[in-house]
Amino acid sequence: EVKNMEAIFDQKIANDEKIEPKDWMPEKYRKTHIRQISQHAHSEIVGMLPEGNWITRAPSLRRKVALLAKVQDEAGHGLYLYSACETLGISREELYNQLHSGKAKYSSIFNYPTITWADIGAIGWLVDGAAIINQVPLCSTSFGPYARAMVRVCKEESFHQRQGYEIMLTLCNGTPEQKEMAQDALNRWWWPSLMMFGPTDDESTHTEQSMKWKLKRKTNDELRQQFIDQTVPQAEILGITIPDKDLKWNEERGHYDFGKIDWDEFWQVVKGHGPCNKDRLETRVNAWEEGEWVRDAAMVYAEKQADRKVR
Ligand code: ACO
Repeated sequence: EVKNMEAIFDQKIANDEKIEPKDWMPEKYRKTHIRQISQHAHSEIVGMLPEGNWITRAPSLRRKVALLAKVQDEAGHGLYLYSACETLGISREELYNQLHSGKAKYSSIFNYPTITWADIGAIGWLVDGAAIINQVPLCSTSFGPYARAMVRVCKEESFHQRQGYEIMLTLCNGTPEQKEMAQDALNRWWWPSLMMFGPTDDESTHTEQSMKWKLKRKTNDELRQQFIDQTVPQAEILGITIPDKDLKWNEERGHYDFGKIDWDEFWQVVKGHGPCNKDRLETRVNAWEEGEWVRDAAMVYAEKQADRKVR
């Protein structure tokens, strides 16, 4: 029986058909999807924090409106992803518990501080730029609910990327001090952005299996290279310098060569010892606890409404 189910599953993957929540799937396929989708959801929710820090200090009404919209979009992305994850048989409560107890991973990038306004530009340009490159292939991932969530997420991410790049462009065309702020933000965000794609392929635990299942459509190193190749010309337009002296076009490969990534720093941040890990988790847990009365009130209200309809 299971053999037969497995053959149907394998055939669907081979034919590029979607696996849906009620379809039979190998237990490991289910588990690794819960792992990746939940980490992705947590990243969206924690990702609201570094930028939320600047909403009250955005330099104009226009910038404030755009930033507010972007941070709200991230909440939305988190919610679609939690919903997609729940279809695999794990509850929202359990997912939140994993995040709030510090057990769950979320993207390393959100453990760095946003010190100046230029950081908001750099995050949009680099972090959302990296997110798009990582997520466009996920629109054709094999698990239906994840793939469908990614279509909308990617559309919104491209707005986020453009609002960030526009901030950078404005700063780079501004006063020397503003251009210097932009350069400083690039210096601080460049290497952590490259780390977002995860360890190199030979160090990556899950890539091989995830490629077979078509959960991942491209490897960590392929996506990282694509990001670098795409971003270098954008930095040239801005007139600022990527902080990597080994960055050089390689005619033969048709790609940029780049310097060594500090993988010790990456693992330190992943293990909870980055500059802001503690602060991010505390802020998130406080927001959850302080919002309890709102959730309670909303539940009571919903129950009253339902009661009225019954009568
Ligand atoms: N930050 C934190 N942890 C990471 C990161 C990172 N940047 N990259 C890899 N890891 C973790 C993995 O989660 C895995 O840990 P686990 O075994 O405890 O789950 C471990 O390092 C080994 O890495 P891989 O085997 O390469 O893991 P995986 O195959 O899941 O690839 C990747 C990692 C590329 C991030 C993948 O999970 C993915 O594409 N996720 C969806 C996109 C996403 O989560 N984006 C979040 C940031 S973008 C945004 O929210 C704006």
